[in-house]
Amino acid sequence: MKIAVASDHAGFLLKKEIIHWLKEEEGHQILDFGAFSEESVDYPDYAFPASEAVAGGIAHFGVLVCGTGIGMSIIANKVTGIRAANCLNVDMARLSREHNNSNIICLGSRLIDFEAAKNMIKTYLETDFEGGRHMIRIEKIHSLTGW
Ligand code: RB5
Repeated sequence: MKIAVASDHAGFLLKKEIIHWLKEEEGHQILDFGAFSEESVDYPDYAFPASEAVAGGIAHFGVLVCGTGIGMSIIANKVTGIRAANCLNVDMARLSREHNNSNIICLGSRLIDFEAAKNMIKTYLETDFEGGRHMIRIEKIHSLTGW
């Protein structure tokens, strides 16, 4: 699978571990949108192009990491085509796929460790959208908001 990954400075080290694991152990193709060091940066500059890559079909899914996952999810959800979910555990990761057809998972490096991140991302990528009543709810989001 092709996965767009981005972080700010706070998420950089966790992003690095995630990318290595996704590539070397899980066999995914990674598009790394930065950041590329722990030097202080602004999360929208990295979340936005990564989200556009997912929305444009260049990547199947996205993984965005900042200190809390909150900033990443706020900006990602402003991109047409994106349903980003800020997740703290495996149940949230699974349900964001089954019920919300989420296409970007946001993680907080100050709240979770690498082990938890791996478990969440693995579950996220392996879980399908259930459709049915959940599709009706997503369509309502689109008709109420324009996306
Ligand atoms: C950076 O200090 C921090 O604000 C950022 O990583 C993120 O948590 C914002 O939502």
